[in-house]
Amino acid sequence: MKVTVVGAGNVGATCAQVIAEKGIVKEVVLLDIKEGLAEGKSLDLWQTAPVNYYDTRIVGSTNDYEKTADSEVVVITSGVPRKPGMSRDDLISINAGIVKSVTENVVKYSPDAKIIIVSNPLDVMTYCSYLAAKKHKNQVFGMAGILDTARYRAFLAEALDVNPKDIQALLMGGHGDTMVPLPRYTTVSGIPVTELIDKDKLDAIIERTKVGGGELVKLIGTSAWYAPGAAAAQMVEAIVLDQKRIFPCCALLEGEYGLNDIYIGVPVKLGKNGIEEIIEVKLNDEEKALLNDSAKSVKEVMVALDDMKLFE
Ligand code: NAI
Ligand code: 2OP
Repeated sequence: MKVTVVGAGNVGATCAQVIAEKGIVKEVVLLDIKEGLAEGKSLDLWQTAPVNYYDTRIVGSTNDYEKTADSEVVVITSGVPRKPGMSRDDLISINAGIVKSVTENVVKYSPDAKIIIVSNPLDVMTYCSYLAAKKHKNQVFGMAGILDTARYRAFLAEALDVNPKDIQALLMGGHGDTMVPLPRYTTVSGIPVTELIDKDKLDAIIERTKVGGGELVKLIGTSAWYAPGAAAAQMVEAIVLDQKRIFPCCALLEGEYGLNDIYIGVPVKLGKNGIEEIIEVKLNDEEKALLNDSAKSVKEVMVALDDMKLFE
């Protein structure tokens, strides 16, 4: 089985590395437009195989999509990341064209692939890929919720001094500062988190989660890659092993949660067919209002995509 990662930058190379180390596919193709970059990183990664004990082949390609042919899953990370002071939405003018052309090439050589978008602004780039792919909505989706939830879970593990593995949480909405962490659906080994932490501390963690990406951009000078790469690899694993995992992913809504014609983060079941189910959990009025606010922000960026007239 083959998986392709487009974009051999920080997130793409990390994602390829994590997939290979999991030993779940025969081959990972890493493709980039920059001459030699993907080949170089693939060679370096392949040379970790004897040390880290895996046998997944990692193959690099400079924009040669023939090498990606018949991929089961394609992860698209190509595009520019944000710099300090930029929002994810500032990236649309460059990244929309990249995501569109990359998707068209991917579909040409792997018509049955499930496509996972990572490029920002995530929700709208996933919509852009869906329009370019002309595939069923269940085969085109985005990665953000696993990352945002991981940040939330990591902050909670630290605050509670517990094992991060024991923290289960749900977070919905767009991949931006309006994302909606849901304390009512957060537990520590089944114990509601609200029984273990003061409201003030929990509120502070929720606020830190919402700007978790920005915190890292300020520290590093570009956006994060270890957790994003690992999060995308976890989605690949759920698909290639048909694990039926329940994750928050960016999916196209057609009436679910009262929202229409929008890609946004919701809990889904992920298996060999891609998104196999969108799970509609009950939200209270406050949670619904937060989700609607988040959807409003995503719709504003969708207008910017529309204005680019890429799909006329
Ligand atoms: P990076 O700059 O390290 O890597 C991007 C790579 O894409 C570069 O190597 C570049 O040469 C390549 N590229 C550009 N145009 C291309 C094309 N037409 N075809 C093939 N490759 C092309 O950036 P990084 O840090 O890897 O981030 C990638 C994207 O992922 C950014 O848009 C960033 O904002 C987004 N991101 C999204 C996250 C999420 O949660 N969804 C988390 C972290 C990053
Ligand atoms: C992140 O959340 C920038 O979307 C990227 O780290």
